[in-house]
Amino acid sequence: MSNFSRLKKIRYALHLARLAILEPAAFQTIRTVRREKLSYLGFSALYDLYSTVRQVERARLPGIMIEGGCALGGSALVMASAKQPQRPFFIYDTFELIPPPGTGDGQDAQERYQKIISHESEGIRGDAYYGYIPNLLERIEANFERYHLPANQHQIHLVKGLFQDTMQVSEPVSLAHLDCDWYESVMTCLTQIEPRLVPGGVLIIDDYFDWSGARSAVDEYFADKHENYMFVTKSRLHIQKKMTRYTHLK
Ligand SMILES: C[S@@+](CC[C@H](N)C(=O)[O-])C[C@H]1O[C@@H](n2cnc3c(N)ncnc32)[C@H](O)[C@@H]1O
Repeated sequence: MSNFSRLKKIRYALHLARLAILEPAAFQTIRTVRREKLSYLGFSALYDLYSTVRQVERARLPGIMIEGGCALGGSALVMASAKQPQRPFFIYDTFELIPPPGTGDGQDAQERYQKIISHESEGIRGDAYYGYIPNLLERIEANFERYHLPANQHQIHLVKGLFQDTMQVSEPVSLAHLDCDWYESVMTCLTQIEPRLVPGGVLIIDDYFDWSGARSAVDEYFADKHENYMFVTKSRLHIQKKMTRYTHLK
């Protein structure tokens, strides 16, 4: 191992130790989600998600929270554990197999989808791929109960179906986590959510650096909107709507 990778490992371990001491609740939730193989996101991405939800809560931004793309529900569990129980949280997914990519997606997505429909896709660290699991929605509901986040007491709404059919956002939105891989899926979310995003509100784009279609959708959608947004690369791309006053999330 090179000195550089050793140094990186030590810094990461120190970061985790600091988090375990300063934010034990976040640390525990993320560690359990990772251990139970409920999310494709790594520790840093889940922590960025957690802390962005906390920032929105601290700033008391109005508006619902949204996740587009839940799979096994790991990132949604982390978001739900960080938000105030009374803030509505809408989680959209087919809760079945991911829909096919379209003409807006590149070869990367087409090849990935072929593997999925050939039943050759592996899940997280050797588990079954989520799209092949029967009763996925029921399993996710049971996980929310098990994490002491029952949907009916925490304003959690699991919305089953294609975003193109189910997503009709008419309320202000404070934060959305978009983790849905393909061009049309990301574009549908942006078209529905961005016009309702409150000043200071944040869009977290999980796949901007991973899938060609997700990246094209974001680049196209925001091509004429740059002056109203700040683009920040953390473990994922965060797009924050500028505040109208001189207040920023702390
Ligand atoms: C990468 S997974 C989400 C991972 C998850 N956030 C986690 O913590 O591991 C992508 C999800 O997006 C969903 N999805 C993608 N496009 C969709 C669409 N157009 N309508 C509904 N669900 C969609 C898939 O069904 C899949 O569950």
